[in-house]
Amino acid sequence: MQIKCISVSYILCLTFVGTYGSENAPTNDFPASFKFGVATAAFQIEGGWKEDGKGPSIWDVGTHEHPNSVVDGTNADIADDSYHQIDRDIEMLRDLGVNFYRFSIAWTRIMPNGDRSSLNRFGIQYYNTLIDKLVANSIEPMVTMYHYDLPYELQKIGGLTNPLFPQYFESYANVLYSNFGDRVKLWITFNEPSDYCVPGYGAGSEPPFVNATGIGEYLCMHHSIIAHARAFHLYKRDYFKQQGGKIGIVSSSRFYFSRTNDTGIVNRALQFNLGWTMHPIFSKSGNYPEVMIRDIASNSQMEGREWSRLPEFDEFSIAYIRGAADFLGLNYYTSRYVQLGPHAETKNPSWEKDARLNCSVDPSWKRAKTPWLYNVPEGLGGLLRWIKEEYNNVEVIITENGWSDDGRLNDQGRVDSLKEHLRYVSQAIKKHGCNVIAYSHWSLMDNFEWLKGYSERFGLYYVNISSPERTRVPKKSSDVYKRIIATRKLD
Ligand code: BGC
Repeated sequence: MQIKCISVSYILCLTFVGTYGSENAPTNDFPASFKFGVATAAFQIEGGWKEDGKGPSIWDVGTHEHPNSVVDGTNADIADDSYHQIDRDIEMLRDLGVNFYRFSIAWTRIMPNGDRSSLNRFGIQYYNTLIDKLVANSIEPMVTMYHYDLPYELQKIGGLTNPLFPQYFESYANVLYSNFGDRVKLWITFNEPSDYCVPGYGAGSEPPFVNATGIGEYLCMHHSIIAHARAFHLYKRDYFKQQGGKIGIVSSSRFYFSRTNDTGIVNRALQFNLGWTMHPIFSKSGNYPEVMIRDIASNSQMEGREWSRLPEFDEFSIAYIRGAADFLGLNYYTSRYVQLGPHAETKNPSWEKDARLNCSVDPSWKRAKTPWLYNVPEGLGGLLRWIKEEYNNVEVIITENGWSDDGRLNDQGRVDSLKEHLRYVSQAIKKHGCNVIAYSHWSLMDNFEWLKGYSERFGLYYVNISSPERTRVPKKSSDVYKRIIATRKLD
């Protein structure tokens, strides 16, 4: 799922002249310490939506109350049935030979109401079983604490726009560390804040369908960042000494190219995307990107407001947030050409209008089933190098990268995309010294693709959604990935 630029409706045919990502990539292997994995998310695979005391999430309620918002009218009540198929999932992971499995925990299984008063031992037991089986099979668990599925009870009190949200999140993180931290050493607090804040609390196009455009998305991000920092500091203070793990946060970002070699617009686009989440945590400033602070304040003033729609971090928060992560998680799917869009009008502001990014694609880029997804592997190389420069060569885990189609077993498009992207990862490490330590493919198996239901398939394994067992069948890409992992080489 990806937030967008103002327009992708026109396609121009000019040659790429951007600063990064323009080199050929002959490199084809990986350091011995490099880790390969696959990723999923609880809501997209688990099903069992109200089993064993689980509470409803905003996505349960959203898909039930607005069935027409999902293109194929489906929901994730059963999804891939992973709630009952742990063993089959482990079998696939073993077969692939992955070093780690990135999955998410459903907050609503652990605390159905979102707070500790509702602690649910069955939820804890489910994840204990999964984690134990992973460890027994030498597969490292990498846990995402929040992948879009907010407890509905917390939404009733404002969800991520509530200033108390960080406190609730810290309490949830505490339960996770104390129950699973003896075996889980890699934690991700949030998956893609911009991708749930813009549609969820800005445009109102996805659960929880709050249309507070131009304000809600910024509040949501603000509280996500503070909540992340609270979970980070809690871990360092109370758990790190004993458990010795790492905490990171994930953002998706496109890379951007300029046809006129305009590094200013490329930088603006990256700051409004990746920088919105990552700049406060990984830059020296401990604050939002300067361009966002300046432009949103000036737009707010033109709109006649008394203060900026972008919330401010006070001095204490800046010091608290700066450096509050051990690694940067990157979800990379695609890129765009960009030029500066028109000035925001004063009515109906939004993140998109503040960003002023006029995007287009190159006609030579191959498109996946998903309309926004074009195969641009060189963009991943560019983004990794930009991150290296911007954030002092921070440790990076590529937490997602993938390709969609109709679910065919002979998925040559995914095979090509996988190999091409990995080639740029290898190059980034070996030629450019980027500190990338792991790569995780999205996804282990076909699953509930949010508002696209089961119509777009991202899996290395096909899942038959009409069979009661949700039968899983390996695709060609799973064989290819397996070989890459075993040999640590492409081709
Ligand atoms: C999300 C996944 C989603 C994938 C493909 C990522 O941004 O984290 O949940 O399925 O994109 O759209």
